[in-house]
Amino acid sequence: MKVLITREIPQSGIEILESHSELQLDYRKGPPLSDEELKKSVRGADAIIPVIPDLITGDIMKAAGSQLKLVANYAVGYDNIEIEEATKLGVYVSNTPGDLTESVAEHTLALMFAVGKHIVEGDKYIRQGKFKYWDPMIYLGPKFMGKTLGIIGFGRIGQHLARIAKFGLNMRILYNDACEKEKEEKETGAQFCEIPYLLENSDVVSMNCNLTDETCGMIGERELRMMKPTAYFINTARGAIVKEDALAVALKEKWIEGAGLDVFENEPEINPVLLELDNVVLTPHTASATREARIQMARMAAENVVEVLVNNKPPVNLVNKEVLIQVRKF
Ligand code: GLV
Repeated sequence: MKVLITREIPQSGIEILESHSELQLDYRKGPPLSDEELKKSVRGADAIIPVIPDLITGDIMKAAGSQLKLVANYAVGYDNIEIEEATKLGVYVSNTPGDLTESVAEHTLALMFAVGKHIVEGDKYIRQGKFKYWDPMIYLGPKFMGKTLGIIGFGRIGQHLARIAKFGLNMRILYNDACEKEKEEKETGAQFCEIPYLLENSDVVSMNCNLTDETCGMIGERELRMMKPTAYFINTARGAIVKEDALAVALKEKWIEGAGLDVFENEPEINPVLLELDNVVLTPHTASATREARIQMARMAAENVVEVLVNNKPPVNLVNKEVLIQVRKF
């Protein structure tokens, strides 16, 4: 059975797959596959392990052929996969939940500190030979201890972020999610609130929700104007949750003090205004880029493949549960 792996991933996953002689790996280690290349490469695959930029549409799944059983995303988020199409076609979709919780929460705080404490600007200042004497008035920023952190999306990552912020920085935690999470909020004393209240009252706003039809574009001009002029906006979730043009204006015109962004609306393209601004720190979608998280992601994706192709069971981390009652359509 053929398993297509579209990009190089840690050996931990490859070893699991290689230990099953019935699996033939088509392992692409080169640059990202274009849509056309992807369409050709999937042909005959029983399982695909794609990465976030690979758009796995219904057409791609059909191009694979009727033997395709599983798309095992090498990611927690699965907005790159047409889930409903997969379900209609009777194809399982799996992800890698829980593997990157701590890593993304840490990166969120890294961005918060980097922008608030002018880390990147200070580094540039030194490298450009501008550090001639100690200046008591440059690069002033906030102390985060005791401030308010607003978390939009109180899942695993949001909750872990709340823990570090609460127990490390004694921050007050506000959160918003589809519904109040009474059990989960107890540990950190996090308070559920509506988005406008969260935006108006937070010193740092962090996006930690999934990209869905409901969250797409949920932060735009109106929302950014609700934030404090001293507040910071951090996004390690998905770029399309935020209207990037509006964010660029907000930062340029100082409606808010700064931002830390790991994800972008049209990755890898970045709004050119953002590239010119000093009050935003940018990272190339690397919030989950710890060795620990990536090794675990590879393992989980591989284990999902083994569960389906070798053990003939649904994947461990099944996303489209509806597929279980779906008759294969092709
Ligand atoms: C990373 O962005 C992921 O969803 O795993």
